[in-house]
Amino acid sequence: MSETAVLAQSTIETIEWTPEGVVMIDQTRLPREVVFVTCRDYREVAEAIRSMVIRGAPAIGVAAAMGVALGVLQSDDPAREMPVICETLSKTRPTAVNLFWAIDRMKRVFAEVQGAPLARIRERLVEEAQAIRNEDIAINEAIGRNGAPLVPDGKTVLTHCNAGALATAGFGTALGVIRAAVQAGKKVDVFADETRPFLQGARLTAWELQRDGIETTLITDNMAGHFLKSGRIGCVVVGADRIAANGDVANKVGTYGVAVLAKENNVPFYVAAPISTLDLTLVSGDQIPIEERAAREVIEVQGVAIAPEGIKVANPAFDVTPNRYVSAIITERGVARAPYEQSLRELVALKK
Ligand code: MRU
Repeated sequence: MSETAVLAQSTIETIEWTPEGVVMIDQTRLPREVVFVTCRDYREVAEAIRSMVIRGAPAIGVAAAMGVALGVLQSDDPAREMPVICETLSKTRPTAVNLFWAIDRMKRVFAEVQGAPLARIRERLVEEAQAIRNEDIAINEAIGRNGAPLVPDGKTVLTHCNAGALATAGFGTALGVIRAAVQAGKKVDVFADETRPFLQGARLTAWELQRDGIETTLITDNMAGHFLKSGRIGCVVVGADRIAANGDVANKVGTYGVAVLAKENNVPFYVAAPISTLDLTLVSGDQIPIEERAAREVIEVQGVAIAPEGIKVANPAFDVTPNRYVSAIITERGVARAPYEQSLRELVALKK
């Protein structure tokens, strides 16, 4: 991966296809430095996903699609190499279903153009990866439009992790709802959970909302209950990594606790996610694979040890919020409410 430092940019370009390769903002280095890295082959894209240079379910999907396109572009025998390319990319992170959704979509397009000249096959895959990226921005804007009416005027919105422009190709899902509410003229401010251990809230959500001029207060994760009880929080809006057919939601670890505290205090808890985050093959959230990440992420904060050497550590990256805590799921095709078995299937069946 090669890198370019950029001092200031008006909009956030999370990920882009360029003639040199796939360019992404390095999210491990925010907010200290704004650095763009170029992945020049599919293995570098896979490594960028694994190491969280790029993260967030929709952004991971876009990166995987571009990784597949890059692999095919650089292969003299894509029919032979395609399975390895897809396997390498799919082994990076297990929870966000958008990764597998995007790889499957690229496989389908690849199958459609079998028999065409190599140049056409390559062109078609690059086209599809770019389409996935561009569609994602439009989808997030639609999620924003559908979700904005749910955000109470003059109240605070609590969010967990980063489901913003950085977690998508642009605009964001949960932060897209907040952005759309602000654009609609609502007076909204945000409480952002810092999101231990990887600090997506402190490093990424705080950074991107501050750039937008949206009033944001950073809190540590254990403060959420205190503020949910205070009456100040009008609603919670979070993203999702995978949503089962019954409406159980896998999202960044800590989300479940926030959802329970929201219900206890009669604060609506909304999940904003694209249709591609639904996994209707899973009956319930119990079947969602939860990624376990390195102990180092818990033992160290930004490279500084905060725990004794040799301590045992657990580091599940996600948890599952049971559907009974979810007030609504906001998608680009509309808002689903319980019973989710029915409402989610109806949204999926809607024509695009
Ligand atoms: O481990 P991460 O940073 O990839 O986790 C991200 C989240 O949990 C997000 O909330 C989710 O992917 C939705 S992003 C629109």
